Amino acid sequence: MELTKDIYGIGVNDYEIDLFEGQYPVENGMSYNSYVIIDEKIAVLDTVDEKFTEEWLNNLKQVLKDKDPDYLIVQHMEPDHSANIKNFMDCYPNTEIVSSVQAFKMMDQFFDLDENISRRIIKEGDELSLGRHVLTFIAAPMVHWPEVMFTYDQKAKVLFSADAFGKFGVVDADEDWVCEARRYYFGIVGKYGMQVQNVLKKAQALEIQMICPLHGPVLKEHLNTYLDLYHTWSFYEAEEQGTVIAYASVYGNTEKAVVELKEQLENRGEKVSLCDLTRCDIAEAVEDAFRYDKLVLATVTYNADIFPCMKSYIHHLIERNYQKRKVAFMENGSWAPVANKVMKNMLDSCKDLTYMQNEVTIRSTMKKDAKEMIDKLANELTEQ
Ligand code: FEO
Repeated sequence: MELTKDIYGIGVNDYEIDLFEGQYPVENGMSYNSYVIIDEKIAVLDTVDEKFTEEWLNNLKQVLKDKDPDYLIVQHMEPDHSANIKNFMDCYPNTEIVSSVQAFKMMDQFFDLDENISRRIIKEGDELSLGRHVLTFIAAPMVHWPEVMFTYDQKAKVLFSADAFGKFGVVDADEDWVCEARRYYFGIVGKYGMQVQNVLKKAQALEIQMICPLHGPVLKEHLNTYLDLYHTWSFYEAEEQGTVIAYASVYGNTEKAVVELKEQLENRGEKVSLCDLTRCDIAEAVEDAFRYDKLVLATVTYNADIFPCMKSYIHHLIERNYQKRKVAFMENGSWAPVANKVMKNMLDSCKDLTYMQNEVTIRSTMKKDAKEMIDKLANELTEQ
């Protein structure tokens, strides 16, 4: 795919994958992007997943038109991008590998590369001239591994952004970019907001006309929208007002109570997202918690603790620095409800959470007293 006169996308689409990184359902598959810059010198940026060696090398061959590449720039060593380094070097042994010192260390952990291979270690600010195109390297540690480098093409004003600005789904998936990019962001780099902010600061100093990520479509228009979203996400700000109700119900009684709360909130004009943690994709429930400004956690008491999927959900939030939100609690218990206390204790380490004063306790089924508590909670959640 020709992106500019000299820059080509040679990535592949994975239509068969069901779980990305072993935990994210990807109904619309996944793409592993790779790029080539054709100039006096030819640079290939990153390889692709191990399942696509032949397809990727064929894509590369078509663009090279019998020439040999001069450089293989390795921006990220996670195997979805690096798996074919050795296969590539077997085909093009005279290519120089260009990468960070940490990436070379990982490369030697993943592969037994021929010791005669030429290696160029680059660091923040280093330049590589291809002729008309001069590439500058930008350190992007923890976005999403420590060795990551972004690459900026000064001539074409293209930012090759490694995993950043990527999304789930094949390149041409007919779906909303924001939704799958948000689920991807909070799943993959949600923990590393500060590191994302650091690299965004560096990106602000650049004139960018195109962003070429390692997953999902190349971004050519409305780039400020994407940069603004990354700003919001990395600062853990809510994108919009609304309440996520994440719940775990065993016999349906806790579910009835959260449906009652949903109706009460909607009657007051609140946008509500209801997530059944026993069945939903937990990554969807996680992205919703970061999308909206309020969260209600509702679960049965279980073994003097909380239901396992709720525990796992809260762990996912804590791991990703959940903060700056209003949070409310609902519990159910037939003899000793303790879930609200357990959930609050779990969230202790989170910054800037405001707990709603009204908590809900259901004793087996929702009776008049629980309904009144739900009504009060709905008021508190929607008062300005
Ligand atoms: Fe797409 Fe961090 O690998």
